[in-house]
Amino acid sequence: MTHTLTLARPDDWHLHLRDGAMLKAVLPETARHFARAIVMPNLVPPVVTGADAESYRARIMAALPEGAGFTPLMTLYLTEDTDPDDLAAAHAAGLITAVKLYPAGATTNSASGVSNFENVRPVLERMAEIGCPLCVHGEVTDREIDIFDREAVFIDRILDPIRKSVPGLKVVMEHITTKNAADYVKDNAAGLAATITVQHLMLDRNDMLVGGMRPHYYCLPILKRREHREALLAAATSGDARYFLGTDSAPHPTHAKEAECCAAGCFTAPIALSCLAEVFEAAGALDKLEGFTSLHGPAFYGLPVNDAKITLTKGAPLTFDKSLPAGEHTVTVFDPGMPLHWHVS
Ligand code: NCD
Ligand code: ZN
Ligand code: ZN
Repeated sequence: MTHTLTLARPDDWHLHLRDGAMLKAVLPETARHFARAIVMPNLVPPVVTGADAESYRARIMAALPEGAGFTPLMTLYLTEDTDPDDLAAAHAAGLITAVKLYPAGATTNSASGVSNFENVRPVLERMAEIGCPLCVHGEVTDREIDIFDREAVFIDRILDPIRKSVPGLKVVMEHITTKNAADYVKDNAAGLAATITVQHLMLDRNDMLVGGMRPHYYCLPILKRREHREALLAAATSGDARYFLGTDSAPHPTHAKEAECCAAGCFTAPIALSCLAEVFEAAGALDKLEGFTSLHGPAFYGLPVNDAKITLTKGAPLTFDKSLPAGEHTVTVFDPGMPLHWHVS
């Protein structure tokens, strides 16, 4: 039986760091285990220009603990007013790594997102030209479409037409939650990849809804039925390089989660790797963990694999702080509701 695992230091290809006191509280949790992260731009107001990305990156660097070897990979929030020249300049300067597409109203802080996809076509064409990937929150926002179907409908109605009309655009389907999305990636050629979160590999909608509603399991896209979780797990543990880790760790103050109208997002960063080791071990796929956490993402983004290593050791059930202070509030750490045995050092 394996008791120790040494992996190239992981990266997180989809992360929310927020700003201010929350940034200060959550950044060390990611920097402890991850070398790099694609930092989501859905602040209020969002990170829309190269100048916004530059100043957000400076705030992140200022909030890093002394000696932390962590590099934030910045993104721009695509709007119908995004200036292709500003985007291209930020990409050429190495200031941004990707651009994020939020359909307007799809998720937390997405009000400035895209309503008419035709209006962003020139920007997408420019991105294809310069090799800047598009990261996509893939859900339609049509009230007529059931929340559990919104990802599958997005693929047919929006994503597939965009990919066909802008050939050469590199696309990451973020936080996929369905067999439909996993299959869409599998059936398509180069230039398309998907990130998968910890919670979507561990939980299905029964875990969130049976026996009472658990707000800390509520995120978007929403947890689906078990067969979808199984398809995601099969994809993540397959060794196929088009699937890699994006935790989508998305902290909200505890009072905003435990509320009449609960905010969407799971704060998984502190225990993400312990969770993944547990899940991959249960699937008999510990040998595929390093690809998922540390190798496939850099390959897609054309970045080097990290030289540094981390070690995971199997031992007594992990104890961890269930809540962290965040300024005058607290933030609740995701608890998968099962013992975790892998300790990271
Ligand atoms: C994210 C957040 O809180 O910013 N929430 C979530 O449920 N995943 C936004 C997002 O990634 O959709
Ligand atoms: Zn999202
Ligand atoms: Zn997210």
